[in-house]
Order: sequence, then C-alpha cells, then structure tokens
Amino acid sequence: MSLKKTVLIIGSGGREHALGWKFAQSSFVEKIYFAPGNGGTGDIGDNVTIDVTDNDKLVIFAKEKRIDLTFVGPEIPLVNGIVDEFEKEGLKIFGPNKEGAQLEGSKVFACDFMERHGIPYPRSFTFMNPDEAKKKLKKIGVKKSVIKANGLAAGKGVILPESERHAFDAIDDIMNKKIFGTAGNKVIIQDRIEGPEVSIIAFTDGKTVIPLVPSQDHKRIFDNDKGPNTGGMGAYAPVPFITSQDLKVIQKTILEPTIQGLRQEKIIYKGVLYAGLMMTRNGPKVLEYNVRFGDPETEPLMLLLDSDLYELSMACINGNLKSDLVKTKPGASVCVVIAAPGYPGSYKTGQTINGLNNINKSNVTIFHAGTKRENNNILTSGGRVLGITSYSTNIQKACDDIYNHVLQYPFNKKSIYFPGMHYRHDIGWQALKYDKSN
Ligand code: GLY
Repeated sequence: MSLKKTVLIIGSGGREHALGWKFAQSSFVEKIYFAPGNGGTGDIGDNVTIDVTDNDKLVIFAKEKRIDLTFVGPEIPLVNGIVDEFEKEGLKIFGPNKEGAQLEGSKVFACDFMERHGIPYPRSFTFMNPDEAKKKLKKIGVKKSVIKANGLAAGKGVILPESERHAFDAIDDIMNKKIFGTAGNKVIIQDRIEGPEVSIIAFTDGKTVIPLVPSQDHKRIFDNDKGPNTGGMGAYAPVPFITSQDLKVIQKTILEPTIQGLRQEKIIYKGVLYAGLMMTRNGPKVLEYNVRFGDPETEPLMLLLDSDLYELSMACINGNLKSDLVKTKPGASVCVVIAAPGYPGSYKTGQTINGLNNINKSNVTIFHAGTKRENNNILTSGGRVLGITSYSTNIQKACDDIYNHVLQYPFNKKSIYFPGMHYRHDIGWQALKYDKSN
C-alpha cells in the first residue's frame, strides 16, 4: 500500500477525535479531514462544515479531495445509507450498509434477527399499540421489564420503569406524544435481566470477526450508577472480570453467529460490530447491537490499540481481515467524561474552557467532544465536552493519573475548568472492586 493517504472522518464527538488521533499515527496517512469535527480535531486535521446527514455533500467532498478512506463515526449516517451512496460512486468507506445498519436502527429487526439465528437475548415482545404494551407491562411486572423504543433515540430510548406510573408515562411519551418521532411507532417490552454490562467492539470484513479487548461504559450521570442515563460518562478497558473463557463463549455464541446470520440473509456487513452485553448467570446475552464504535469506549480502546488503524480499516473493507492485524498493548486505559452544567438535561454552552494546555502527563490525552474553537479559545458547545483519557499499567493507576493529577480538587488557575462542569468520580469502580477481591 502506498503512503500519503487521505482520510475523512464523519462525526464530531470524542470518539471521532480519538479515531483521528489514531489515524494520525498511521504510517499510511498524510491528511485527515473531519466533517464536521470539533475544537480538538482541528489540531490534527481540517474541519469541514458538512452535516453528518448530508450524504450528497459528503460524496462530493470525498470525490473532490480524492479521499482514500471515509470512516463513519456515528450511527445516523449509517442508518441513512451513507455507505451505499459512497459505494455507488466507487468510494472506499468503513461501516455497514443500510441493511446491516438496521441491527442498530431497529430494535425489532435486531430481536427478530437474534431469534432467527439462536443468539442469546432477553425475552422480548413487540407492540404497535400502546394499550397492549401497557397490558404486557402489568403482566410481566413493571420492575421486571425494560421498555425500548424501536428506532434511534440518541441513547434515551431505553427505560427501566420504577413504577406503573413511570412505565405508562414512558409508553405515552414514546408511542402517543412521539418524543422520539417515528422511532416510537413500535416498542419492545423486554425481561429485565441482571449482571454487569460489557461492550464487545469487533472489527469485521463480513466473514471474519475479531474483537478488541472488552470495555465498559458508565451510562448513568451520577456516581454509584445513580440518576438518568447519558450518552456515557466514562469507560475503561480491558474489563478484568471477563475471562478468556467468557471471550470464547462470546465469540462462538454471539459474534460469529451474528456475522454468519447476516451472510445467510445476504447482508454484506463490514466495519464495526458492537455487541452491548449483559453477563448473566446463564451466560452473556445481547442487550443491543450498535453498528459503529461506542463513545466513550473508543477513547480508551484507541489508546490500547497497537495496530495501524488505516491498514486495519482497509482490511475490513477489502475482505482480508486477519487476527494478527488486531493488536492490543498491555496495560489499561480509562476515560472520564467532563459534562456541561445541566447535562443530560438542557445544558449551557459557549463557556471558555481553561487549562487545556497545562496537562503535563504524557500518558494522558484530552479528547474533545462538545467543543469549538473561537479565535484562540476553546468553548463548550455540547453536553459531553471532554474525555480525559489515560493509559497506564493497570486500571487503578490509569484512574489515579486522571483523578489525582488532572482533575485534582480544589481547582487552581492551571486546572481544566469551566463553571458548572461535572464528572463522575468512580469510573472503573467495577474493575477496581473485582481487582481488590482477587
Ligand atoms: N457507549 C454507548 C454507545 O456508544 O452507544
């Protein structure tokens, strides 16, 4: 493969900054564009103001700039069929096509698919009628149920009801008030199962599927997993309580049957397959599929990836993925997300972030998410603002580097700071508890 390749990364989050950071280390890559990118991605490439949903403009841009590889970060363009549009024009793009992206775009599709292929998932019922959904909730017991909107809902479409009122309000919001639009035309009522959650994020060329090390997200806003769900407040990898035997089971009962099932159904699926699992007493079960990298899981995963991301991505696209292309560094990585005041509700933007240039730990990388550059300042522009990510020999040390050095309290003039910023203080707690008890 010749050098001097140009890459276009679609998206604007911490995930895309982390992917760009990794592409910038590739021996093949000379130039990176981000559409639209954020206040941090501009330091490693050029930000271009094209919306992630504007397939036509993205195709024109990729042709004009002779992009060698387009890498899609978020799910919305994949579900909108961006891969099909690029491939029609002979452009190389990383991600599944529109049909494959239904695994994330429709929970009903995903459950029906798992049923057809014997992939373990919680017992599920689909409803188009809100009254029937409520009847089923009463029958199962609201506290034993999970309510899921069928379509994409920016991570807010999964509800664990605490009372009948809560459950019925959620059904009304989703199905009658349509707070998620057509994503709420159908709902799934699922059995609430128990166990730790883990994200298995794998590369695939449509035949071979190779996971990265397991990672774990922290979805609730407050410490001790309290408060409403968010897009993810932090993540770490690897997950020490996932054994090599667990990984074999996940490979044989989930990853391989998924890829084989897609092939049997004549769906060409290339890119990333993300299985959101619950490790139950009866083995791993799929809570959700995602068809792209997770955010914030990508941030620690990129710090741990010991492969050339361009070479690996092209192997997926060209159908020659091999296990020796997916290499992981020893050690561990942790990401703590800094959020804007008010997040995950309505939040403030436009605040100046101080202290970004004062980090003097070489193993800590600041990935930007909801930020923008204005003159010489970095301002907040989203709910999840930064992902402070460290790489060290183990989870405890990686946590200490963030909590004892970068986010040291009380803040001083040099600290990373903007008024009202907040973050969780317990990222990695399940790993640390497991390590202590072993
Ligand atoms: N971290 C969860 C997600 O990316 O959907």
